[in-house]
Amino acid sequence: MKLAERMSRIGTESAFEVLARARALEAQGRHIIHLEIGQPDFPTPAHIKEAAKQALDDGYTGYGPTAGLPECRDAIAQYVSATRAIDVTAANVCVVPGGKPIMYFVMTALLEPGDEVIYPNPGFPIYESLVDFLGATRVPMPLVEERGFSFDLDLFERSLSPRTKLVVLNSPANPTGGVIPKADLARIADLVRGRDLIVLSDEIYSRIWYGERPESITQFDGLLPKTVILDGFSKTYSMTGWRLGYGVMPEWLAAAVERLMVNSNSCTASFTQRAGVAALQGPQDCVDAMVAEFRRRRDVMVAGLNTIPGFRCTVPAGAFYAFPNVRGTGMDSRTLADLLLNEAGVSCLSGTAFGEYGDGYLRFSYANSLENIERALDQIRALAGRWTT
Ligand SMILES: Cc1ncc(COP(=O)(O)O)c(C=O)c1O
Repeated sequence: MKLAERMSRIGTESAFEVLARARALEAQGRHIIHLEIGQPDFPTPAHIKEAAKQALDDGYTGYGPTAGLPECRDAIAQYVSATRAIDVTAANVCVVPGGKPIMYFVMTALLEPGDEVIYPNPGFPIYESLVDFLGATRVPMPLVEERGFSFDLDLFERSLSPRTKLVVLNSPANPTGGVIPKADLARIADLVRGRDLIVLSDEIYSRIWYGERPESITQFDGLLPKTVILDGFSKTYSMTGWRLGYGVMPEWLAAAVERLMVNSNSCTASFTQRAGVAALQGPQDCVDAMVAEFRRRRDVMVAGLNTIPGFRCTVPAGAFYAFPNVRGTGMDSRTLADLLLNEAGVSCLSGTAFGEYGDGYLRFSYANSLENIERALDQIRALAGRWTT
């Protein structure tokens, strides 16, 4: 049986493929240090797990409302209003199983063939995959290392057209760790304000930052009614496997996302939403402790990468990824990533896993122990003779 034609246009997230290859090597007895996968290595905080257990005992085991439990949507609306200094209500919130479905639903609801989508490249691979899948037109925006991996704003301005239907922003960013400066966001806001388009602001790393607090484009005049905030619990509360995320958007778009939810998931698991309420309303010191530990690891990771011949790494301002420029090795990123996996036992991702402009870079997740990070750096350094001779 032939698959539908559209399946030839959908991409993938190669972090999962690299993880599978690393696990296959482990099955052969090799020791691999995992710096490829983008999930915090901390357990979900105890009070959140307790809330889920309590919810199961209290009977939150059946279908709930498609767009989310009212108390969960309320808690999200209050949290997002407070953290972004905006005013949104439960009617703007759609609770879905993870942050990723918001990309899928919002793009499915909006995009038609011929519509142009501006998105960061290197960027989360699912943006590009969905643009292709839906038959829309790619307008990849190269990130500029010298600008802390922000856009070239003149190029951004030139890339806007009457066909631009969606602009994707991601700050703090995967894979670069870059944070879009407030002045850049203000200029982007000025450029899109008068246009008939939607901004998808992927803020899944909104709580993981080390310098200036990342801002949301929704705070600029006129932007809230044309922006979808994507956020969730996966990264902030170390809940990747719970599948709990949300979008905050204008009500007309929330109704479309709800319709897609009823056609796919019916609802998000009820007891996980109760845990989500506990996460947002409970103590936040668990998040502070996690971010403090990520900062220590970031500093060791970046300093170490900068001692490896041919590597040059800027200091990431957010998320938990280091994105060194490895052009000095003279090797292409994919070959280098393979070499590090097979010969150094260090699993990382080629920058090309995030789009064509990721060539010349590697992504290392520092969601691993300091001990493993130091060992990985030693093992890479020991291999450097392979590209310096
Ligand atoms: C930029 C970005 N957005 C969204 C997601 C998806 O998050 P979730 O696991 O909640 O679907 C990820 C996960 O890696 C991400 O890096």
